[in-house]
Amino acid sequence: MTALPLRAAIPGPTPEGWYYLCREVELRPGQLRTLRLAGEEWVLWRSAAGSLHLQSAWCPHLGAHLGHGGRVEGETVVCPFHGFAFDGQGSCVANGYGTRPPRQAHLPSRPAVALHGLVFGWVGAGEPNWRPDPGEVDGWSPFRIHSWELRGHPQETSENSVDVGHFAHVHGYVQVQTLQAAQAQGPLLSARYSFEKPLPWGRLREEIDIAVWGLGYSRVEVRDHTFGARFRLMVMPTPLEDDRIRLSIGIAVQDPDRASRAPWRFVPRWIARGLVSRIALRFYAADVERDFRIWKNKSWLARPALAEGDGPIGRFRVWARQFYPSSASEPVLP
Ligand code: FES
Ligand SMILES: [Fe+2]
Repeated sequence: MTALPLRAAIPGPTPEGWYYLCREVELRPGQLRTLRLAGEEWVLWRSAAGSLHLQSAWCPHLGAHLGHGGRVEGETVVCPFHGFAFDGQGSCVANGYGTRPPRQAHLPSRPAVALHGLVFGWVGAGEPNWRPDPGEVDGWSPFRIHSWELRGHPQETSENSVDVGHFAHVHGYVQVQTLQAAQAQGPLLSARYSFEKPLPWGRLREEIDIAVWGLGYSRVEVRDHTFGARFRLMVMPTPLEDDRIRLSIGIAVQDPDRASRAPWRFVPRWIARGLVSRIALRFYAADVERDFRIWKNKSWLARPALAEGDGPIGRFRVWARQFYPSSASEPVLP
């Protein structure tokens, strides 16, 4: 009798890494927002001086939710229930009574960072010793973002970027070529491909450089040979629960004066930034949506029956192991 392959709903618990939270412009100094991340409630706030803080939403005094009535005051966040104030490290620096704040009143904090106008928060047991490289930022538009919520896992959506076989079957790409095989370097996995996509009016020829930093941050640099344009595409799964993600994609366009052959090089920068990124976002969103039917319904096989033409899925999974450092239920690998 043949043993059944080890099958699970998802690859494992939430992997360690940097996950997209919001755009920087959505959080001005003095503002606070509530978010769900890795099965927990958090507040993300920006101090008067502009520093970003990601902290537990639950006040350690008597459990009020800081996202419901909490406010930023200077460099602290203040609870709406009894006025306890916490600094960016989570220390209670004042209470509403003017007495000595209890030392054990500490708010769990996680690092947060803004990269090319996008805010990411760290999920992991300890402090991170790496962060994604956002690439050259000068000469690029800000990101335009589109998000969905769906059943899924960051490892599954990231594995997609090395699943060369599905490029043709799901996305309709032809002439898919690997220009640089997937290379792992610590938390970075990079690869380079070219492909063509037949469209009703012609054929799109693109070359893409993929930089996957952990399982929450994929940056795809797109060189479009049809229009001579350059796009930057982000694919960012944010884990909400073990098996639910908010998948956000972002599009930035290179400024027309830098994209030498782009047809919009003669239009003002603000038009190019707005119009081109809107059209490109719609195009890529439709492309990503083609994966949803698979992701929403698939299972995770620990020992997939891989074939030549699949792309470096095995290598990807070995690389991905590092993001489950302290987990007893680390995915079983082929
Ligand atoms: S519960 Fe937050 S100050 Fe009391
Ligand atoms: Fe895909």
